Amino acid sequence: MKNILVTGGLGYIGSHTVVALQQAGFNVFIIDDLSNTIINVWEKITEITNIQPIFYNIDLKDYNAVSVFFQSHKIDGVIHFAAYKAVGESVTKPLMYYRNNLVGLINVLQAMEEHDANNFIFSSSCTVYGQADEMPIHENTPLKKPESPYGNTKKMGEEIIEDFVNATNKNAIALRYFNPVGSNINGTLGDLQPIPTNLVPYILQIAIGNKSKLNVFGNDYNTKDGTAIRDYIDVNDLADAHVKAIQRLLLNQNKTKIEYFNLGSGTGSTVLEIVQAFENANHIKIPFEIKPRRAGDIEQAYADYSLAQKELNWCPKTPLQKSMQTAWNFQKQLTEI
Ligand code: WQD
Repeated sequence: MKNILVTGGLGYIGSHTVVALQQAGFNVFIIDDLSNTIINVWEKITEITNIQPIFYNIDLKDYNAVSVFFQSHKIDGVIHFAAYKAVGESVTKPLMYYRNNLVGLINVLQAMEEHDANNFIFSSSCTVYGQADEMPIHENTPLKKPESPYGNTKKMGEEIIEDFVNATNKNAIALRYFNPVGSNINGTLGDLQPIPTNLVPYILQIAIGNKSKLNVFGNDYNTKDGTAIRDYIDVNDLADAHVKAIQRLLLNQNKTKIEYFNLGSGTGSTVLEIVQAFENANHIKIPFEIKPRRAGDIEQAYADYSLAQKELNWCPKTPLQKSMQTAWNFQKQLTEI
């Protein structure tokens, strides 16, 4: 049984990926510093799979703690989610983001080198493309300076990993997510955003009655209804892609030492279309008000995922309506705690 370390494994995408890895027969270790999640997620994972992953509460900025972990366990692959991810916060606290996201990454890579762990999956982001000139976005679309320090930590992270694998016998895959949405089928795992910044978590706060209306940031974009377009990809489909990616490396099927794959639905949806999709899926009215554009927002982004389809044998399966339903199920279950 192969041992996989999932950093940030109690987080939103991380926890879904831990479940998928366990169900695929992997032995999973989790490192998480609980800065953006709660310990209860560990129990929720165990309830789903009946396998309790081994969990360590470690800050990846503490190299000695990371090194001791790798000394204690033979790790066959690492899936690295652990990072701060609030775009707006990264603008006001850039050094906190650069230190946490980059020092954490570097410490994991260094420990891998010192303890002979060879396969690395990096949680990257479509934000590395900035506002791409052409749609859909494919992996050869030129990268641009990301709109935020958060996005820059993803772009710099990819560059660090590329230099690292070229100097060692390691192999890596960077997965560039578009906009993750949804929850697991029984609604027990989800995106815990105490202060919702992303669109769907904010809509959930309105649906549950904590907020009164949605501020729609701009309706003067050059799109069908004037609101910005994103590619909303279900978290369960993202988890599936991570299992396929680590299997690819473990079987030495990668064609280059670092590979990049876009993970999106391939469909662009405007903000108002997401509101409509949520309302239709859950029969709940979401009041909204048009506000000025949000600083740093791009007009549109949606993926060409054909490379992941070809090389990872992956494709998005979950319809948007289902993602809206599972997201709502999670919010309702969360409130019942
Ligand atoms: C989506 C659209 C907003 C909130 C996210 C993550 C980032 C990365 C990419 C993974 C935009 C609009 C939002 C609201 C609104 N993911 N909106 N009212 O900015 O595309 O980035 O996905 O790495 O980490 O932040 O997502 O959900 O914040 O915004 O009108 O209250 O919804 O303007 O057009 P974004 P988002």
